Amino acid sequence: LVLVVDYGAQYAQLIARRVREAKVYSEIVPHTMPVEEMLARNPKAVILSGGPSSVYEPGAPQLDGALVDGRVPVFGICYGFMAMAAALGGTVSRTGQREYGRTQVSVLEAGTLLQGVPEQLVSWMSHGDEVTIAPEGFTVNARSPRATVAAFEDVERKIAGVQWHPEVMHSEHGQAVLEHFLHDIAGCRPTWTMVNIVEEQVEAIREQIGDRGKAICGLSGGVDSAVAAALVQRAIGDRLTCVYVDHGLMRQGETEQIERDFVAATGADLVVVDAEERFLGALAGVSDPEEKRKIIGREFIRVFEAAEVDVLGDAVTGEDADTVAFLVQGTLYPDVVESGGGAGTSTIKSHHNVGGLPDDLRFELVEPLRTLFKDEVRLVGEQLGLPADLVWRHPFPGPGLGIRIVGEVTKERLDILRAADAIAREELTAAGLDRDIWQFPVVLLGDVRSVGVQGDGRTYGHPIVLRPVTSEDAMTADWARLPYEVLEKISTRITNEVDEVNRVALDITSKPPGTIEWE
Ligand code: XMP
Repeated sequence: LVLVVDYGAQYAQLIARRVREAKVYSEIVPHTMPVEEMLARNPKAVILSGGPSSVYEPGAPQLDGALVDGRVPVFGICYGFMAMAAALGGTVSRTGQREYGRTQVSVLEAGTLLQGVPEQLVSWMSHGDEVTIAPEGFTVNARSPRATVAAFEDVERKIAGVQWHPEVMHSEHGQAVLEHFLHDIAGCRPTWTMVNIVEEQVEAIREQIGDRGKAICGLSGGVDSAVAAALVQRAIGDRLTCVYVDHGLMRQGETEQIERDFVAATGADLVVVDAEERFLGALAGVSDPEEKRKIIGREFIRVFEAAEVDVLGDAVTGEDADTVAFLVQGTLYPDVVESGGGAGTSTIKSHHNVGGLPDDLRFELVEPLRTLFKDEVRLVGEQLGLPADLVWRHPFPGPGLGIRIVGEVTKERLDILRAADAIAREELTAAGLDRDIWQFPVVLLGDVRSVGVQGDGRTYGHPIVLRPVTSEDAMTADWARLPYEVLEKISTRITNEVDEVNRVALDITSKPPGTIEWE
């Protein structure tokens, strides 16, 4: 275990991810956690993250010197680097000279930390203070134009740090620097592998559920719920029932993929509820986006609830009322960190993710992914033999195509959109670009018509909008610069193959100001 101490940086999660990429398990803890509590968890190393404060600012988070007294290897990044320098007797000065973004770092002495790294490297910086004198006994490994000491190490004491952000993509050799600390200075062994994760999680699930009853899992068609279900299935076999609500707003082939490929890969017991008519009935005549979302959410809860009561039967009413039922959720580590951390399992009465469970039904949550990042979940999915299409699927909103049709949602419009969307996805995959973009919404402007000419005649059809975006976390996004040839192919195929569409437009808006979805 490596602890990443969060000094309020937006980078703590990224650091934790990079540590795991170095095959070492990591968790994030707040900087307010007492040092003895950190050490009681027996970490193999501690990494201090960057943060927005200046070391000398009143109220700046302090580094307790007890953390760097040699009992545990420590690596400091940016703010953590400066706080560590100050705590160890070095000098940190406020020079008023800032370095933001791309910065040239010069290696002075490679030592262990920077071994094999070129003498000049581009690194991402974000600091206003600088370390001017390294603490006694430390080797200064590098400098930059505005950081006299940009990296230092004391291999004996197993303490090192860098002024830049090795965890960000733009820092050259960043992962190598982190690994030199983890593997060569701190002596962490690279044992965090997907095979081990699967084994450990299956064991943990068996321990949690024991012989205390059945579990249920709502499948959304997305990666997280599928991988969570597959893990639980491996642990408890047919005591798990999966429920998939087909609201008729899925894309082409998605329901079949769950019905056929997911079941084939996992052997899970799956109940598919065909609720298309019900959803389309409830959506008839509605074109306001918020109202559509509310209707879809409400209907979903009702259908899931009914299916659940059927599946669990006796657990709800009959004499087995005491039977503990478990609810499997695909909660990920970022959700856990963002909602304030907390370990262990909680017992709930109803959960907003599935909503409206009967009041007298108590579920214990099973969340086998709550220590994992999305990229790890995908690798676990591969390890469990889930289909690649499912494991590498782009995020897809719960309300589905219902919020990708501007205007009323009808079966006819859904079929048009499904056909156009399938072509766009096919061509993206054929161009090998699936993993280069975050999401590729395809939108039907149901209430807009445009004039075209196809064959010998005038047409009056609907435009389709392509909305490929790049993003790290969906909070911000940019429009993806797809190659013209790919766009051309998509446009030609859609207008040729989907009768009702005579025009294809490309959305070139970033987020903000645009959102990723149109509604
Ligand atoms: P926006 O459109 O707000 O979307 O930029 C950000 C991300 O969230 C997804 N999204 C949803 N996901 N239920 C979901 O599960 C929803 O109601 C919903 N609305 C948007 C969207 O696809 C993007 O990834």
